[in-house]
Amino acid sequence: MWLYLAISLALFFLIRWYLERQTVENLREKYVFITGCDSGFGNQLARQLDLQGMRVLAGCFTQKGAKELERLASERLKTFILDVTSTESVAAATEWVKGCVGNKGLWGLVNNAGIVHPAAPNEWLTKHDFVKVLDVNLLGLIDVTLHMLPLVKKAKGRVVNVASILGRLAYYGGGYCPSKYGVEAFSDSLRRELCPFGVKIAIVEPGYFRTGMSNIQINLNNLDQIWTSVPQETKESYGQIYFDKYRKAFQDSLSACSTDLYLVTDCMEHALTSKHPRTRYAGGWDAQFFYIPLSYLPTALADFVLTRSSPKTVQAAP
Ligand SMILES: NC(=O)c1ccc[n+]([C@@H]2O[C@H](COP(=O)([O-])OP(=O)(O)OC[C@H]3O[C@@H](n4cnc5c(N)ncnc54)[C@H](OP(=O)(O)O)[C@@H]3O)[C@@H](O)[C@H]2O)c1
Repeated sequence: MWLYLAISLALFFLIRWYLERQTVENLREKYVFITGCDSGFGNQLARQLDLQGMRVLAGCFTQKGAKELERLASERLKTFILDVTSTESVAAATEWVKGCVGNKGLWGLVNNAGIVHPAAPNEWLTKHDFVKVLDVNLLGLIDVTLHMLPLVKKAKGRVVNVASILGRLAYYGGGYCPSKYGVEAFSDSLRRELCPFGVKIAIVEPGYFRTGMSNIQINLNNLDQIWTSVPQETKESYGQIYFDKYRKAFQDSLSACSTDLYLVTDCMEHALTSKHPRTRYAGGWDAQFFYIPLSYLPTALADFVLTRSSPKTVQAAP
């Protein structure tokens, strides 16, 4: 019995390896639009695909980010200023992309732009704090997708949505986890709807990485600012010791972030260039061997691990 199981598993991985290493043809003719290319994964992916000879259309949030990316890339790479929270900006970017790709359509749309702040225990936040994050990470992603979809359908291309392990396990407060759960749900329904059109949807779920959004000092300053605005009664119920522990655990989790962004951008590249892309990619060792397996455990067990024994946990008992 064990022998049959071992042979079946070996066959499964062999066939998967063989299928996944086949790449699509004419990559140099294919256009990919990426949001949030000023820094982090988006910036690295834009340069990585540009090096491969693909035609990269990079959405940048700021002029400064766009200029810097253009300086580091080839003449093929083009930039456009995009704020995913503004429908006018998304519509203008879509017109620009349409003009760039012509009759070919858009092979790849990478929804990467995202923010994490305000992030803190839920009770310390306001509805507006949640809206701010959901507006970029979820509604912005949906708006960009809805605008660009006709172009992607024309090319029978790919949509790559950047979610997170925090879209599988929600273990800190604020809009970030709900936004990433939303990205997972939106991507799943989109995949089922667009399959008949030959469009493939991939979800990338990175673990913890050192990028613009995990800058330690900025994160700690934001947290301190939130704490000062927490109503006095709530503040007293948590106490200064809770805050200090939470802040320290938060700082420790940020210090432990991986700096190897290729673990994620290689997944994104595979989703865009393989003939047989995966539906989901776990980006990074922590995602693959800790968070994703943990997400399959019974909730009570996952709660125990996350609130008591995880080195990455940001929980701190009062
Ligand atoms: N880093 C991690 O550990 C991690 C883990 C899981 C998932 N992710 C996801 O990975 C994606 C990329 O994030 P990252 O880690 O590479 O962080 P990042 O370096 O901060 O990149 C995010 C990018 O989005 C841009 N952006 C922010 N608001 C925007 C808006 N309204 N419209 C358009 N662009 C906007 C940012 O521009 P500015 O730089 O100018 O603000 C930045 O270029 C995000 O979706 C994030 O949730 C990250």
